[in-house]
Amino acid sequence: MFTVLILIGVPGFSNKNFRNDEDCVIEILRALRHCSRMSVMQHSQESPECNISEVRKSVEPCTIVIFGASGDLTARKLIPALYHLAKDKQMPPTFRIIGFARRVKTDESWRTELRAALDQFSRTKPVDDRVWKDFSANIFYCIGDLTDASAYQKLEQKLTFFGSAPLRKNLLFYLATQPSQFGDVIQQLHDSKLLHRENGGEHGWQRLVVEKPFGHDLASAHALNAEMTRYAHESQVCRIDHYLGKETVQNILMFRFSNSIFERLWNRESVDHVQLTVSEKIGVGERGGYYEEAGAIRDMVQNHMLQVLSLIAMEPPVSLEAEAVRDEKVKLLKSIRHLTPADVAKQVVRGQYFAGIVAGEPRPGYRQEPKVTTNSNVETFVAMKLLIDNWRWSGVPFFLRTGKNLPQSASEVRIQFRPTPSVLFAAQCGQHLDANALTLRLQPDEGISLHFNGKVPGIGTSVRPVRMHFSYDSEFGAYTPEAYERLLLDAIVGDATLFIRRDEVETAWQIVDSIRKGWEGKALTNREFYAAGTWGPIAADDLLAQSGHEWHEPQVIK
Ligand code: BG6
Repeated sequence: MFTVLILIGVPGFSNKNFRNDEDCVIEILRALRHCSRMSVMQHSQESPECNISEVRKSVEPCTIVIFGASGDLTARKLIPALYHLAKDKQMPPTFRIIGFARRVKTDESWRTELRAALDQFSRTKPVDDRVWKDFSANIFYCIGDLTDASAYQKLEQKLTFFGSAPLRKNLLFYLATQPSQFGDVIQQLHDSKLLHRENGGEHGWQRLVVEKPFGHDLASAHALNAEMTRYAHESQVCRIDHYLGKETVQNILMFRFSNSIFERLWNRESVDHVQLTVSEKIGVGERGGYYEEAGAIRDMVQNHMLQVLSLIAMEPPVSLEAEAVRDEKVKLLKSIRHLTPADVAKQVVRGQYFAGIVAGEPRPGYRQEPKVTTNSNVETFVAMKLLIDNWRWSGVPFFLRTGKNLPQSASEVRIQFRPTPSVLFAAQCGQHLDANALTLRLQPDEGISLHFNGKVPGIGTSVRPVRMHFSYDSEFGAYTPEAYERLLLDAIVGDATLFIRRDEVETAWQIVDSIRKGWEGKALTNREFYAAGTWGPIAADDLLAQSGHEWHEPQVIK
């Protein structure tokens, strides 16, 4: 029976005359190999996967030193990400992790603490004890003050004690500290000969990883960047924007440039306008102190939103090399039309939440949050219309909005195409026939939907919007690595594509500074307040209504 099945699949096999059983078995094995090759080919013809990461640089042995290691970020994000990289066998063949902080701890007590945190924050549960045992044996703790030269000598001794040149020289310094401390740390690293300007060669490689805020305006960002590059090349600095580590944000480039049907519509001829919404159900909570300094525009627009916008609107890069991609992003940011104070008054809306209800839960107003002044003028919501002065996008408005205490947590980009001439369906639909739209849902319920119109089945001629939907979960399963996994691995291998270059940061600050200048000395007016649990102030709706548009509420599509 088994033999007969194989004979069917292999041409010519049935004509064979076998001298003996052995010959027959050999022939069957040959046929099996043939069939299995065929099935592999068939699979790859249906869904060929082009693995771009195969051309990645190699993962060399190194030590990761985390400054400010006793903070939340290490326990919640960094260690879980490194643990998963180890679990997925992505970490270097040998590595060490050293936590550097002032609090008194031993290697052992820090490992115990991190294990408890991992049990709580790991994206896969339960934590794999075998993986943890091997992984945690590489974790060490170094007690020290960031400004104390002797602490860096101790760090140097620990590194030397590992007894391996690459572990001593290849160093990833993660600065999980206040930005005001970056300068001190870098100076000390340089003085203690742990940081060298050269990348590679006899000194191995060293990289500095930092996270936002990268300054609070252009001038401070400029000063901070100068400090970061005082003893290191720009190529040694990895500025993290965790949005770029999200799968769906990375997919924007793949989606745009590996499909021919959308890119040819991706311009002013076909696109009416673009909406980018990043809404959050959470309020400011315990982060009032930080938020009073930041506000929505510095917290979300300067970084995450302008990054997503640049990926959505940039020109195709000449290659996928880091510099080529980043050059195009900067070009795009530079072509955003400058906003004068008069433009800001017309094109930018800010808002602040007052007490309300979000998902059935009462929320205090922003001014009642801890560490917020009772007459604060800080915006918890911002919406704006930006114009991009280049050939592709001339005249196409890009509407951006973000806010806290909104009805939903959702990030999405909606490309709204131009409507058809209202001729054929005018009688039934008037102006109400929906235009096509493409929605890139960045989170949660990640996916992409194409909205179009279709005939409602029946004897009448009714038209209604329908959609085609791709969902990450159904296509790829629920496995989604955390942004930090990808970003830490990129920092280890030295792939800068997903890190923000100095000129990107500074150009983004120019845009934000011009908006803040327009707000200078102007208190929030009544029209700019919104109840927690609503979609922001009325003024945000008016902003779109001016040009006959309206905001689309993010929709969960399954
Ligand atoms: C951070 C902001 O950078 O991003 C927070 O400081 C915000 O205010 C967060 O809540 C949003 O990130 P995510 O990944 O939850 O969309």
